[in-house]
Amino acid sequence: MAKLYVNPKVKKGHINPELQGHFSEHLGRCIYEGIYVGEDSEIPNVNGMRTDVVEALKEIRVPVLRWPGGCFADEYHWKDGIGPKEGRKKMVNTHWGGVVEDNSFGTHEFMELCRQLGCKTYINGNMGSGTVQEMSEWVEYMTFDGISPMADLRKENGHEEPWRVDYFGVGNENWGCGGNMRPEFYGDMYRRYQTYVRNYDSKNPICKIACGANAGDYHWTDKVLETAFDHGSGFMGGMSLHYYTLPTGDWSSKGSALEFDEKDWYRTLKATLKMEELIRRHGAIMDQYDPEKKIGMVIDEWGTWYDVEPGTNPGFLYQQNTMRDALVAGINLNLFNKNCDRVKMANIAQMVNVLQAVILTEGEKMAKTPTWHVFDLFQHHQDGELVESSIETEEVGLEEDYMIPDLSESVSLGKDGRLHVTVTNASLSRKAEVEGFFAETAVSAVKGRILTGEMHAHNTFEEPDMVHTQEFTDFSVEGNQVRFTVPACSVLHLELEL
Ligand code: AHR
Repeated sequence: MAKLYVNPKVKKGHINPELQGHFSEHLGRCIYEGIYVGEDSEIPNVNGMRTDVVEALKEIRVPVLRWPGGCFADEYHWKDGIGPKEGRKKMVNTHWGGVVEDNSFGTHEFMELCRQLGCKTYINGNMGSGTVQEMSEWVEYMTFDGISPMADLRKENGHEEPWRVDYFGVGNENWGCGGNMRPEFYGDMYRRYQTYVRNYDSKNPICKIACGANAGDYHWTDKVLETAFDHGSGFMGGMSLHYYTLPTGDWSSKGSALEFDEKDWYRTLKATLKMEELIRRHGAIMDQYDPEKKIGMVIDEWGTWYDVEPGTNPGFLYQQNTMRDALVAGINLNLFNKNCDRVKMANIAQMVNVLQAVILTEGEKMAKTPTWHVFDLFQHHQDGELVESSIETEEVGLEEDYMIPDLSESVSLGKDGRLHVTVTNASLSRKAEVEGFFAETAVSAVKGRILTGEMHAHNTFEEPDMVHTQEFTDFSVEGNQVRFTVPACSVLHLELEL
């Protein structure tokens, strides 16, 4: 029997809703087809945004959306994407499939999407190939409420009121696709570019995000902070981290999304658990510069990355999504919660049709992935207070080097006054019997939902509801104790009334 200890009286930090954020790039069929079909499409839409997708995203309460990239961000020139659509410049999307980008989805369309979703905005600026002036004017265009060349241009283009920009990324992956810079050089560039990301709306200052490391590049984190972190949180509100889960760890042969065996299962989950070490070690470096934790770790690209589905454009990064992805999502979302004192935002890559998407589309058809269902279970943690908890685990796996703990958990006290417990069981063969102790607090009611299934289980356009959550009733309550059984290969949410 695994013991779960929860002390609802000990609060460990606020769980920013942004820990369940999303990322949408001009890549493959994420924006075009996946989200934006245009006003003249036969697919039902509101101002060009497909209604089915927007409704599904609203169900999981998308808190923040990052756009326009990714690598695309450092090639994007925002002025190409404003004004009458017929006059917008066409360009080649060199990073992603060499397709023509017609810029029909630009700043106004992104802001309209966020309005429909009711989410915060995270714009990623172009430092790699853009000028300081270009970045500065974009911020002026979006946020200045007065008379100025850029505010006037926005009004001419039909938007009188300024928008709110909650987060602004100063470059993306500038150690790679965003300019191949060295950290000291990027640090200096960051100092310069961020100066002109003006706060026109002093009541709602923009949180500026510096480009952080690729996975375990601790040198980058150290040197960027040494160079650029000396002006407090107005100067830098966050620093990003990118980490993708590859089953093989080999970029030239990542493995298939659907065809995998039990060894691949444990290898993938072992790879995803690396996130714990990355948060701890990058966090330790951040602590040296910022012991008060004023700047957030922003894990603005995470998720699985497999070989593309056979027959699809290799530059479109389209992959299916199974219970393996559900476990990856559950383990990571628990980790983000447990580290909410430092991790302030995380954005799964990517929202629709790309990498570990929560939604897949084909023509007018749409399917919610197992990952969508995990976000659905975890949404109860949004805006909650993390409470102290720990769970006993056992090692599971098939190979000595790829053993992993069977269980992961996090517990929060929600705004609804209830305790929310999320537990993942990564074992493929063993259910876990858990005895939960809730300090001195008597538990008066419990309800739960669970996502479980065979490891390859996934949703298709023909059977979009193969994988879905169900009511969970396998528990018993006695005083301050709750016993429950978590089936193998599952993600569980329990809601407790105290
Ligand atoms: O998400 C796909 C790509 O992965 C992004 O464009 C880039 O930032 C990262 O390398």
